[in-house]
Amino acid sequence: MEIYSLRFDGEILRILDQRYLPFEVLEIECRNAKDVFEAINEMKIRGAPAIGVAAAYGMYLGIKSFEGNSVELLARLKEVKAYLDSARPTAINLRWATERIFKVANESKVEDINGLKEVIKNEAIKIEEEDVTTNLRISEYGSTLFKDNDRIMTICNSGALATAGYGTAFGVIRRSFEKYKDISAVVLETRPYLQGARLTALELKELGIPFKLITDNMSGYVMQKGLVSGVVVGADRIAINGDTANKVGTYMLAVLAHYHRIPFYVAAPISSIDPCVNKGSDIPIEERNIDEVTSCGGKRIAPHNIEAYNPAFDVTPEELIQAIITERGILEKPFKDSISKVCEKDQGER
Ligand code: MRU
Repeated sequence: MEIYSLRFDGEILRILDQRYLPFEVLEIECRNAKDVFEAINEMKIRGAPAIGVAAAYGMYLGIKSFEGNSVELLARLKEVKAYLDSARPTAINLRWATERIFKVANESKVEDINGLKEVIKNEAIKIEEEDVTTNLRISEYGSTLFKDNDRIMTICNSGALATAGYGTAFGVIRRSFEKYKDISAVVLETRPYLQGARLTALELKELGIPFKLITDNMSGYVMQKGLVSGVVVGADRIAINGDTANKVGTYMLAVLAHYHRIPFYVAAPISSIDPCVNKGSDIPIEERNIDEVTSCGGKRIAPHNIEAYNPAFDVTPEELIQAIITERGILEKPFKDSISKVCEKDQGER
């Protein structure tokens, strides 16, 4: 089976609806900003980089049929941006992508409205293409941290379904498998939404990478048994001090890894760093419907009329992170310095 998150044919954005994986392969068509908003909001597409690329196309689809002059078009683009930005709160890649499209459109010298639409469309395509390259670089850099026989643990899904290409944390496992002998993965099922069991297990299986699926609460035991050489996770938002928001359960893994002296790495594009957020406690954490906790796989598992809590992400403090793997290299501590250096360079080159 071919695994991808999205495809854009120049006019329509096609998204593989991840809600039904691994059992049903269903592609949906997004023809306007509302379709893209719903796809992100309802988690038909998820994973920070994939959400960013989808939102970039959403910006184009939101103004594609607009009639008026270029000033009015830019005003409309601003509304589309605000609308798409509200689809999910934690992954900064969404806002990063819409901001980039908005800036390019505003700074464009093109006044003809059709020309301006092309500028917006081309920037969205560029964002997708860059994500493909970024993934490969992250994976290559990350693979240098591993060797033959390593067992790499991960949570959630950060592969082709979560990006436009090869994956980030998943890509590190994938590249290590290509380079070294006897690489295998340990995958947390990732309750409550089961991205590990449904999506990462599917991707690893399709690629023939050996792995063991465990429930989240088995993590400590497998580390204690010496079955984990290193942990690699993705990121939804990284503060400038290195604190990292990622799928809920990541913090638990970082604490366990620290106790067992197992290296814990974050793998993410520079676009996941939020230059406006100084520390992790300032990152907004999405809270989702409690039905995801009181049910599993669509079946109710808890008594009715009880309280539950469903934060979708948690924040891992920077002191528990050994290094942050980016497309610009492996960022070492102190992260404040390495992050500010890499962000400055990134801005200078844009
Ligand atoms: O709620 P999700 O499935 O969008 O959460 C995804 C994650 O937490 C990923 O680890 C993160 O976005 C990085 S994906 C390359």
